[in-house]
Amino acid sequence: MFKRHRRLRSSQVMRDMVKDIYIDVRDFVYPLFIEEEKGIKKEIPSMPGQYRISLDMLEPELDEIWNLGIRSVLLFGIPIEKDPMGKEAYNDFGVVQEAVRLIKKLHPEMLVITDVCMCEYTSHGHCGILSGPHVLNDETLYYLSKIAVSHAKAGADMVAPSDMMDGRIQAMRKALDNEGFINTPIMSYSVKYASSFYGPFRDAADSAPSFGDRKTYQMDFRSTKEALREAEADLEEGADILIVKPALAYLDVIKRLYRRYDVPIAAYNVSAEYSMVKAAAEKGWIDEKGIVVEKMYALKRAGASIIITYHAKDIARWLKNNEID
Ligand code: PBG
Repeated sequence: MFKRHRRLRSSQVMRDMVKDIYIDVRDFVYPLFIEEEKGIKKEIPSMPGQYRISLDMLEPELDEIWNLGIRSVLLFGIPIEKDPMGKEAYNDFGVVQEAVRLIKKLHPEMLVITDVCMCEYTSHGHCGILSGPHVLNDETLYYLSKIAVSHAKAGADMVAPSDMMDGRIQAMRKALDNEGFINTPIMSYSVKYASSFYGPFRDAADSAPSFGDRKTYQMDFRSTKEALREAEADLEEGADILIVKPALAYLDVIKRLYRRYDVPIAAYNVSAEYSMVKAAAEKGWIDEKGIVVEKMYALKRAGASIIITYHAKDIARWLKNNEID
């Protein structure tokens, strides 16, 4: 006797009935790169289909996102001025703060998440304050907290710290609570590896470090247990959602967190994961739609309930047109 697995694959209707995961436009968060300089909508060369957009050009983009059914965006700012202390990051009238206000005015129901980090704002491109070549941990916490509070003041629905300093969740939670933002959740990039998969993003956000790398603060991908220590600490400090980043090379990590912690897990399908698909599709070497959908199901299967992805608009369009299911 052998098992006849093929019985349950016999027709589309049968396969649709027995499937046990779904992708839904409501799962997706779409990242946006906002330029402080005016009059800009510029395609990012290494990320075809993604743009750096200035505030004055943002409205049609937001309408498109909204009409596609996407309800959540993650904001990155590109300021005109950078300095060693990253002061534009916590300017209450900085580019991200103004973007939050604009989005909330145009689409009050859009869930606006802000990336909290210093690397797009510092002249040296590191994610914190420097002393010589060293990124100072405890000193940076003060600035990160200021950034989070200024985003919340502007109306951000949720903050997402991506800097990887130790103790930032505790510091930020305390600062938000002190200012009365007790209901602003923190979606922490808890498990963020020092990764080559961020390459195109650093072009996009103009945030590559001017010297060295991020290996003293982002995680080493050769370690398996470190992910659990980071997640555990962030939850103790008050994180509401855990992000794993990058996503596709780390499905094992997503699964481990999913099994261990009863909080929503978000997967960040990062820039190079996107760019590689686009490049191969442009060459005609792969079926883009097929590849993207398969990847999204992989993330869901691993346990991610939230997916941050540059493919979000394409997926939303395909779902809307019933081209995928
Ligand atoms: C900022 C930040 C980075 C990404 C998200 N937030 C870059 C980095 O840490 O170097 C990467 C996102 C992507 O590659 O899509 N710290």
